[in-house]
Amino acid sequence: MTDESIERPVLVAMTGATGAIYGVRVLETLRDLGVETHLVVSRWAEATIRTETDRRPDEVRALATAVYDEDDLAAPPASSVFETAGMIVAPCSMRTLAAVANGLSDNLIQRAADVHLKEGRKLLLLVRESPLSVIHLENMLRVAKAGAVVAPPVPAFYAKLRTLDDMVDHTVGRALDQLGVEHERIRRWGERRAVLRPVDGQ
Ligand SMILES: Cc1cc2nc3c(=O)[nH]c(=O)nc-3n(C[C@H](O)[C@H](O)[C@H](O)COP(=O)(O)O)c2cc1C
Repeated sequence: MTDESIERPVLVAMTGATGAIYGVRVLETLRDLGVETHLVVSRWAEATIRTETDRRPDEVRALATAVYDEDDLAAPPASSVFETAGMIVAPCSMRTLAAVANGLSDNLIQRAADVHLKEGRKLLLLVRESPLSVIHLENMLRVAKAGAVVAPPVPAFYAKLRTLDDMVDHTVGRALDQLGVEHERIRRWGERRAVLRPVDGQ
């Protein structure tokens, strides 16, 4: 991160798509790096946290520096004057994507995303659904045109990741790259080149 942005918190939002572990690992990684995080967890993200992880929602919230209720539209992230180093929605449901694509600002996650777009700040959406309908695809195009980075959490097999944790960490590492956070969570392509290059004659 630049000297200027390192002073600012990263706004993390978790919504009800499958993949709650992505949000958890983002929070753990930023905490380990000493980066301040402000967190909003949607109601359905609470459900996926319970279903998919061995944590309770309050344990996940405890990983963040500050937490807000998704219904609190008077909380600091609802305001343009609350400056951040960027916002990441991990994971991002199709519902939240649709709301952001249409500027709904119906809850704090949607409002904060809207603020990030209008202020020209980094907004990263780890959108998750499969298969994708034309509506989903059009919404992705719409938010991308408005300045968001659409980053579906799909594994990179070239990285020769062995475990689910490795795959999650790789996705989180690439997401933190997008936010300009310096980290050493992933092995970069150049670092494995000698291993991945085919042997002579093949
Ligand atoms: C276990 C579970 C998994 C889900 N997975 C997805 C998913 O991968 N993508 C998605 O768009 N919605 C998924 N949903 C549906 C969302 O939770 C639902 O659309 C919800 O309204 C999203 O609201 P939110 O964006 O405010 O969190 C899932 C729901 C549950 C209970």
